[in-house]
Amino acid sequence: MTAKRKATKKVPAKRKVKAKTAATKKTAIRRGKPTVVVTRKWPEAVEKELKRHFDVRLNKSDKPMSVAQLQRALRTADALLPTVTDKISDEVLSVSGKQARIIGNFGVGYNNIDIAAAKREGLAVTNTPEVLTDCTADIAMTLMLSVARRGGEGERHVRNKKWTGWRPTHMMGAKVTGKTLGLIGFGRIAQAMAHKAHHGFGMKIVFFDPYLADKSSAKAVKAVSRSSVDAVLKEADFVSLHCPSTPETRRLINTTKLKKMKKSAFLINTARGDVVDEKALVKALKSGAIAGAGLDVFEAEPTVTAALLKMENAVLFPHLGSATLETREAMGFRVVDNIKAFFKGRRPKDRVA
Ligand code: DGY
Repeated sequence: MTAKRKATKKVPAKRKVKAKTAATKKTAIRRGKPTVVVTRKWPEAVEKELKRHFDVRLNKSDKPMSVAQLQRALRTADALLPTVTDKISDEVLSVSGKQARIIGNFGVGYNNIDIAAAKREGLAVTNTPEVLTDCTADIAMTLMLSVARRGGEGERHVRNKKWTGWRPTHMMGAKVTGKTLGLIGFGRIAQAMAHKAHHGFGMKIVFFDPYLADKSSAKAVKAVSRSSVDAVLKEADFVSLHCPSTPETRRLINTTKLKKMKKSAFLINTARGDVVDEKALVKALKSGAIAGAGLDVFEAEPTVTAALLKMENAVLFPHLGSATLETREAMGFRVVDNIKAFFKGRRPKDRVA
């Protein structure tokens, strides 16, 4: 030991540093950072963070990627980071020679991904729950208030210079405070809306959710569980949808269901467009079967049923639920955390498949 030590030549400090840098570089190249493909433009701070941890291919043009581009991403990157508007179909997922092992969805809903196909292809899938709860509930409240108080219509009225002045019978809407809010689905976003509506507007809350395990959240807002969708529709002055898009909920709100609602009631949808039969809704809005609708999501986004665009008793938003800088950044950072965990060999917090 001692002899060996004595025999070791002293390396000058400068050369030592150089050698270390070269070794580190070699390791970095050998190990490499995982490659990730981001399908749309993300908030700047998140793209910056992604670059710190991964070899990132960003979408600077922000144009949606084609099936072929998505397939290429799966073949040439370790992770695909799509958003809720990218259709990650069986066709996309079954491309041969995949390198990707995980799909980190930017969004809480993941009905854009064929989960069965992802599982079959051995791909993990994550989403971004919790961080968008309040902002989405805020948008549901905004729609409820806007449609009840004729906000969209009033705005158009002023901008189109049709306003002739205040008068006792001008643009009377429906009162929100103290009314009954019916929630279809009682998950995080519905609960947040219930909280705002009950504590802020003194609303009575009723809901239907066959999957709710923990009923304690209902107590905080004195929400009462009903035994069916119909029971909620019959009782509520405002019906707000908070169920995911599944084969079970597709066009859940159709002509029959709309007829169960009060003629004075309003429908709010911040969940997924295909939960509502849009043509049936137009008919109900035209015939006065219901009083109005506030929609943030549509059956064939970004296309909106033409008739809806002309209806004064519909307030239409371009899928704005989570659209605040704070929330969109938080969603992005959540994806970063999930992907980082995955490549460190840990289970991502928000793994859904
Ligand atoms: C989601 O995350 O599912 C929303 O629809 C977009 O924020």
